[in-house]
Amino acid sequence: MNHRPITFVHRGRVVSVDDAEPTRTLLDWLREDARCNGTKEGCAEGDCGACTVLIAELADGAQANVVGELSIRPVNSCIQFLPALDGKAVLTVEDVSAVPNQPVQQAMVECHGSQCGFCTPGFIMTMTATYERHCEAGTRPTRQQLADDLAGNLCRCTGYRPILEAGQRMFDLPLARLNTAAIAAQLRTLRGQEPLAYEHAGQRFQAPRTLDDFARLRVDHPEARLLAGCTDIGLWVNKQFRELADILFIGEVAELKRITVHDHCLSIGAAASLEDGWSALVQHWPQLEAMWLRFASPPVRHAGTLVGNLANGSPIGDGAPVLIALGARLVMRRGAHVRHLPLEAFYVDYMKNRLAPGEFVQAVEVPLHIDRPMRAYKVSKRFDSDISAVCGAFAIELQDDRVLNARFAYGGMAAIVKRAEATEDAVIGRPWTEPTLLMAIEALANDFTPLTDLRASAAYRAQVAAQLLRRFWLETRPDQPLAAVRLDVWHELRSPA
Ligand code: FAD
Ligand code: FES
Ligand code: FES
Repeated sequence: MNHRPITFVHRGRVVSVDDAEPTRTLLDWLREDARCNGTKEGCAEGDCGACTVLIAELADGAQANVVGELSIRPVNSCIQFLPALDGKAVLTVEDVSAVPNQPVQQAMVECHGSQCGFCTPGFIMTMTATYERHCEAGTRPTRQQLADDLAGNLCRCTGYRPILEAGQRMFDLPLARLNTAAIAAQLRTLRGQEPLAYEHAGQRFQAPRTLDDFARLRVDHPEARLLAGCTDIGLWVNKQFRELADILFIGEVAELKRITVHDHCLSIGAAASLEDGWSALVQHWPQLEAMWLRFASPPVRHAGTLVGNLANGSPIGDGAPVLIALGARLVMRRGAHVRHLPLEAFYVDYMKNRLAPGEFVQAVEVPLHIDRPMRAYKVSKRFDSDISAVCGAFAIELQDDRVLNARFAYGGMAAIVKRAEATEDAVIGRPWTEPTLLMAIEALANDFTPLTDLRASAAYRAQVAAQLLRRFWLETRPDQPLAAVRLDVWHELRSPA
């Protein structure tokens, strides 16, 4: 692959960058190189939303969030490396301001949705994505859906009510949309480019477009850092100041963005976003909606990948407990050789996994046993956009009220996400009754010795793990199962008495 500059659309122009290090963040480029200071920096770690921008690319039929010919996603520019923007368009608050009487901005003024204004550009960008998506579909978001869309934008001044009111008011104002046709026309001029092979000061960033090219480069450069959505890796650079070796970007491999159903399995490709992956899971398991909405925030979910969450292997990752309970397996590839591994067998020790040099995860496959009782619960300090203290996921197979099979997995309880095998053994073959539950709770102590850290004490984690198992039993017991509790904060406001 021959070196070429990073090329993308910004402020209505095709821009070529040839002098930035591969880990230069989009935010730093916007503020320091392009002098576009409307986009703000708050946390530099994907948490506050001040740096939210929109990434637009030509829709290929597989993506959600289609507006005209584009797929438009809100992402945190502070944890996006500039080369990942190649072939795409970035829209900032300057682009929104260029639209006369733009309803999002007008509504924020009218509803007093801004005081110090530091967070406001980020809110404007997230709300513009919401506005464009709903105008395209001819729908309007509920207050809860607006709150869910804005879960990744923090404001320290307004208390959110005026912002939510602006999010509803913007649909009452005269229609004024982004000129997506002009952006699409510019993006089409970039289509014929070679896949990006970018080098700066000895560090390479390669973005192959086919699975075979990716697999070949992975074998040829086993030491290269595999980059997916950058929502873990971005913090390594921003917060831990880690130097990355060469980078091999999986985000351009179209085959790996696909989510398909085959052989009674849901297959989620390694480059499929968290948003699309969770959305596909919730179509088959609606009871996972809370896990979806409470996983990070929309800008992180639109950038990060579900496979990246599994491959990263954080002991408090939320994807792994859910997918282990569902019996998921990884499709792992090295060159042309493909093998399968149950997800629980992938983790060896803290942040260590069974990937061989030159190997990568191509997809995660989930058997569609949707008839089996299954739940997952996340316990964290903050309701939205927070890392779990404990995450429990449970699935059982019942026959005549007896437990035929059980898959219980916990995050936050050990150095890796793992199954509670002693606890599973305590229920298998027995009736799914409270005495069986009590034996299972007893057995939990044989599976885990949780630790105390900033998020929770060992005693709290042990107690929560037991209570989550009890909640699962209460919601799935054969005799008078309890309905799952919805935790929407605006639920009652939506349908006032
Ligand atoms: P990257 O950052 O691109 O990569 C992560 C790691 O996985 C790297 O080591 C990379 O080399 C490796 N990798 C990626 N893809 C592959 C592959 N196909 N094969 C082999 N290795 C691969 N996580 C949660 O579980 N729950 C949360 O609630 C949550 N909240 C978050 C909130 C914020 C603000 C942020 C910034 C992150 C949060 N995360 C959370 C963590 C992160 O978003 C997820 O782990 C995400 O899924 C990582 O995916 P990615 O594509 O961004 O991975
Ligand atoms: Fe806070 Fe990017 S600066 S999310
Ligand atoms: Fe000040 Fe939101 S207006 S942080």
